[in-house]
Amino acid sequence: MDHAADCIARCRSLALHTEEPGFTTRTFLSEPMRAVHAELCEWMRRAGMAVKVDAAGNLRGSYPATVPAAPVLFIGSHLDTVPHAGAFDGILGVVIGVKLVELLAGRRLRFGIEIVGFSDEEGVKFGFPFIGSLALIGELQDARAFGLDPNELPSAVAREPSLGYLEFHIEQGPVLESLGLKLGVVEAIVGQSRIELTFKGKAGHAGTTPMHLRQDALVKAAEWIDAVEREAIATEGLVATVGRIEVQPNAPNVIPGAVKATLDVRHRDDAVRRAAVERLIALAKPDHHEVRVDQPAVTLDPHLTSLLARSAPHRMPSGAGHDAMIVARRMPAAMLFLRSPGGLSHHPDESVLPEDVAAALVAGMKFLEDLETRP
Ligand code: GLV
Ligand code: MN
Ligand code: MN
Repeated sequence: MDHAADCIARCRSLALHTEEPGFTTRTFLSEPMRAVHAELCEWMRRAGMAVKVDAAGNLRGSYPATVPAAPVLFIGSHLDTVPHAGAFDGILGVVIGVKLVELLAGRRLRFGIEIVGFSDEEGVKFGFPFIGSLALIGELQDARAFGLDPNELPSAVAREPSLGYLEFHIEQGPVLESLGLKLGVVEAIVGQSRIELTFKGKAGHAGTTPMHLRQDALVKAAEWIDAVEREAIATEGLVATVGRIEVQPNAPNVIPGAVKATLDVRHRDDAVRRAAVERLIALAKPDHHEVRVDQPAVTLDPHLTSLLARSAPHRMPSGAGHDAMIVARRMPAAMLFLRSPGGLSHHPDESVLPEDVAAALVAGMKFLEDLETRP
């Protein structure tokens, strides 16, 4: 099998490790995550890496340099998924990283390479994303809330000196396909907010309580969700999503007594995003709300980005969040996007083309050679 086809076959096979039969759903520290670690670990060892799982549940494979204490290039992405995910979001970036090391076929470079499979980027399990990459840069707060040992976390922090971080990822949108391009280099990642809100009403009998005497929490939430959509449409470049609601007690014949909802808001301009968040919370008039994430937009490293642009001249922003936006706080970070057929992602039919993976592997090898021969 050729190398690109092998990467795709591995992603498809890894997608079978799931918490929900018939779908790919794999969250932080779950059993199927351990199975993914085991499968990748064996391949990484065969490619010449020393492998461990760190204190934040990240899979780490290190490939030594020609000399000890040489700087390290990190290559990574996430191994967790959204519920009912596709086979490529995140994990393709890890698989391409391991493949690049395999293609070195034992040849050592002047820098070490560390492949990182992040444990939680999507934030599905705790409503809080980027747990793995925050641990890598030593900025994960509240470790105990995520079932981690705070005393062990310092051992997960990236060792110095680092050369930078490279992430391969599917675009998850339609732009590259519309331009007829295989690859694009990411210049900036938009900021994102995530908020949890609670609407309270009064539970009661669905048959006996007249309409004018009700306090239905779900009706309150529904009116607000409609307003969120209208606000986002009215604000250029803003996207806002209520992706999860939990209704209590969630029974057909009980008036909803309480609703918990999540709000995800993104815009390339942090000021516009924060103003929108304030407006949307004010519109909700929730009984309680908590801002879980306020992640500013991030510009990626110009030097590493220009190295990638030699193979992928089209430069573009990313509307999706990525581990690169966290890692960029600590070291130069760069990202390469692969075309997403149909622009599809966070969907079981998400895919990637073999010729695009082949082009990403060529770009990746060129990137390594360029770093190796730099002055
Ligand atoms: C990650 O998939 C995100 O929510 O952008
Ligand atoms: Mn995702
Ligand atoms: Mn992703």
